[in-house]
Amino acid sequence: MIDINQKILKARKPQPACPVIKEIASRFSPRYFANQPVADKDLKSILEAARWAPSAHNRQPWFFYLTKKGTKDHQKLFAALNSYNQSWSKTAPVFILACAITHDENGDNPFAFYDLGAAVMSLILQSQSLGYYTRQMALFDKEKVKNYLKLDKNYHPFVIIALGKIGDYRKANKEIIDMELDPRPRKKVIANF
Ligand SMILES: Cc1cc2nc3c(=O)[nH]c(=O)nc-3n(C[C@H](O)[C@H](O)[C@H](O)COP(=O)(O)O)c2cc1C
Repeated sequence: MIDINQKILKARKPQPACPVIKEIASRFSPRYFANQPVADKDLKSILEAARWAPSAHNRQPWFFYLTKKGTKDHQKLFAALNSYNQSWSKTAPVFILACAITHDENGDNPFAFYDLGAAVMSLILQSQSLGYYTRQMALFDKEKVKNYLKLDKNYHPFVIIALGKIGDYRKANKEIIDMELDPRPRKKVIANF
């Protein structure tokens, strides 16, 4: 009998039409994480990957706030999530809040959210190369997070990234498994080539 994790990987893993790097070929956003801590040295590498992302005029308009399960900070980020995100992210050992900085000493930055996305993708691919999966969440109470962390008014919480090893889906509930078996196909044409 095929193990449920294998079945989910089969449904969710990308099926690239031509060769791509292994981090892209293996990445997808799971909804069930192993409740097991992530090594600090790996977390450092993951954030370092974000630090080296390209950004307009090299303004690096991002801020990351990392929390580990079992801490008050983690509980506060969890409490800000909407109920759907809470339903699947309970076991994720790490959350990384990603904020865009839309105004700095050089004035307004119209590229902030674009650059934040690049830094997040860099972080995600580094995670994948270290054997961790991620799933981003934009559905959370941003004001709650801003107030709790006393963020500057130019810092805009955008996503909370759940991160960890993929979980053993035999322990996941049926709603999560059903969602995971949805293959998330890609559009066919993305360029004139
Ligand atoms: C900006 C952004 C916000 C997202 N917000 C949520 C969210 O609140 N909850 C959730 O479960 N997934 C969220 N996702 C995950 C997407 O649904 C997921 O990346 C998409 O369905 C493609 O699936 P894949 O990442 O497995 O390829 C978000 C992704 C992005 C990029």
